[in-house]
Amino acid sequence: MLSNTLPFQESLDKRRDKGTLRSLRLLSDGIDFYSNDYLGFAKSKDLQQLLLQKIIDNPQLLSGSTGSRLISGNSDIAVSVENEIAQKHHFESALLFPSGYNANLALFSTLPSRHDAIIVDEQIHRSVHDGCKLSNAKKLKFKHNDIEDLENILKRQKGHCYIAIESLYSMEGDFAPVQEIAALASKYKSSLIVDEAHAFGVFGYGLIEKLQLQNHVSAAVVTYGKALGAHGAAILCNETVKSYLINFASPFIYTTSAQDFQWMSIKTGYEFLDQNHELAEKLQNNIKVFRSSKLQSPSAETSPVQAILIPDNHKLKELQNILSEEGFLTYAIYSPTVKEGSERLRICLHSFNTEEEIMKLTGIIKEFI
Ligand SMILES: Cc1ncc(COP(=O)(O)O)c(C=O)c1O
Repeated sequence: MLSNTLPFQESLDKRRDKGTLRSLRLLSDGIDFYSNDYLGFAKSKDLQQLLLQKIIDNPQLLSGSTGSRLISGNSDIAVSVENEIAQKHHFESALLFPSGYNANLALFSTLPSRHDAIIVDEQIHRSVHDGCKLSNAKKLKFKHNDIEDLENILKRQKGHCYIAIESLYSMEGDFAPVQEIAALASKYKSSLIVDEAHAFGVFGYGLIEKLQLQNHVSAAVVTYGKALGAHGAAILCNETVKSYLINFASPFIYTTSAQDFQWMSIKTGYEFLDQNHELAEKLQNNIKVFRSSKLQSPSAETSPVQAILIPDNHKLKELQNILSEEGFLTYAIYSPTVKEGSERLRICLHSFNTEEEIMKLTGIIKEFI
């Protein structure tokens, strides 16, 4: 049998022995402290009704796109949604992707060339690393959020440098010093690329918009599978970068475009976001309630991701099981996903969590620690 002649089973057994084997499970019932649905959009009946109405008015939205956007798969909706997104974010242009993973693959596999360097924060998302693997440029890592280390690396480079950061990191729940890094990027004539997956929607249209840094970044990535409760992503950039991606980015060119429904759900998500500012305020309020428990955490005061370090895989599993028995859905991050000694429970807070739920959750964690 195939599985006897290939080494897959051995690797799987190793994971099983360590207690880190992954498998797909159906969603269990429970109180959501683990999803990226920060504002509850994915559960919103109002948003569902809006989307349903769009489909009733135009059932064609549900049909396949029939090809790459460069052949038969482009549409009025894709183009108009891109224009709208660019306008909203105050960028010259935007390019849609079916997911943030694809957007990062496209950016990092395409923009940097052979003699360039991509300098990534050591906690950057896997999709950036995978994009770098497809690139001919060399990849270097700087210590998490460490400006000095970044500058030391920049100083030593001869070719053009790309700096990759997230505005809000999902493992640690802390912000990048975006303004300082933008200043360094301009000092060293480098290109800054910022992934806004976790900041978009939670902090308006993201930190680049909030801090008015559009002219200091070569590209920003906003993703729609988290606070917007939809799916997909956009690269925000200038016309030249967009045109370059359309011409040279394999993850954009050699794939069938998503259905128009995906682009329409993104457009509707923006409308819903614009009309429901109070949800982000409610979320901030819930984050305050969580922080009032004074649990030790490396996460930022206003971050919807709050990490609690439980530096031992077995202890962490025990805590997660206790929480699960009490009906709380949380996400534990074991080593080697994070460095040994920095295993953590990741709590995602939402606008829809109640104060009582948060107090009960933090009470159990405090007692366990
Ligand atoms: C920072 C970051 N970038 C990119 C992605 C990928 O986005 P998507 O889920 O839309 O593929 C994620 C999602 O996990 C993420 O956390």
